[in-house]
Amino acid sequence: MKTRTLGQSDLQTSAIGLGLMGMSELYGKADDRESIRTIHRALELDVTLLDTADCYGNGHNEELLGRALQGRREQAVVASKFAVGPNFQGVNGRPEYVRAAIDRSLSRLNMDHIDLYYYHRIDPEVPIEETVGAMAELVRVGKVRYIGLSEASADQIRRAHAVHPITALQTEYSLWSREVEADILPTVSELGITFVAYSPLSRGFLSGAVRTFEDFDASDYRRMLPRFQGDNFGRNLELADRVKEIAAEKHCTPSQLAIAWTLEQGALPIPGTKRVSYLEENAGAVHIELTPQDLRRIEEAMPREAVQGERY
Ligand SMILES: NC(=O)c1ccc[n+]([C@@H]2O[C@H](COP(=O)([O-])OP(=O)(O)OC[C@H]3O[C@@H](n4cnc5c(N)ncnc54)[C@H](OP(=O)(O)O)[C@@H]3O)[C@@H](O)[C@H]2O)c1
Repeated sequence: MKTRTLGQSDLQTSAIGLGLMGMSELYGKADDRESIRTIHRALELDVTLLDTADCYGNGHNEELLGRALQGRREQAVVASKFAVGPNFQGVNGRPEYVRAAIDRSLSRLNMDHIDLYYYHRIDPEVPIEETVGAMAELVRVGKVRYIGLSEASADQIRRAHAVHPITALQTEYSLWSREVEADILPTVSELGITFVAYSPLSRGFLSGAVRTFEDFDASDYRRMLPRFQGDNFGRNLELADRVKEIAAEKHCTPSQLAIAWTLEQGALPIPGTKRVSYLEENAGAVHIELTPQDLRRIEEAMPREAVQGERY
């Protein structure tokens, strides 16, 4: 696996990470044993950047990662997040909350530090300088090595970066979700912040594996997202099938093509899976080379305004 250095830090990670969220909730039934096998296989493949958050499964995801990394902590770059409340309800960026949240996360993870700690959603009630100031204190005492933000605006990124260097910004980015191209990508590029692309497969849709709304089980979170509802589903499926055709010509899978596209944009993708087979497939995207002609064809096949429905 290729590696890269995050932001202006000395933190080295794999060029493709692994998102752990689905190992606890949202995308159908998960099995802890297969999830742990997937994390171990990631380390074998040198997929070192492992992405979790305190709210995923209300703590289950961090506990699972802690168990998986027993005796292997040094092989991984652990990224976690705080601010979003249980069951994805509420946001809290108050300094006292930051100080309590890190201790809860470290205890669940069963480790003494987190490599990259993200502010998950920005609390509109708290000036970002205060929250990032509290995060900087965590760096000083050694509980956190580097700081990141998630879904922050360009202005928030600048204000935060003025308080303490921001190493990574994590926001949704894929062939289907290109909103960040307007002002977020230029801002992070100017400031030397790594852009981490979450949901690079558009929550699995770009893999081509999802064919009908009923493929999502009754509790699947995707049933609540506008892109998968009503007529949007069929129209978006046509777009996903175009990606499938180009992938076939490139002798790769649609997922690999979608991930390779994000790499080509300079992003660090963290595709999510709870299965060894998908992990292995997705890691293979580092070997896919996209020529300028391929990129033009992909752009024509999936123009950014063609996608139907909002991302949330
Ligand atoms: N910062 C934020 O606000 C935020 C928001 C969302 C996600 N994230 C992070 O980003 C990570 C990735 O995003 P995501 O999980 O939402 O979306 P994603 O990576 O776009 O898609 C994940 C879905 O795709 C399926 N999948 C993965 N590889 C596949 C393959 N090769 N073939 C067929 N299907 C495949 C997975 O199936 P299985 O589940 O069955 O393996 C899962 O249902 C998350 O795990 C989380 O760590 C962060």
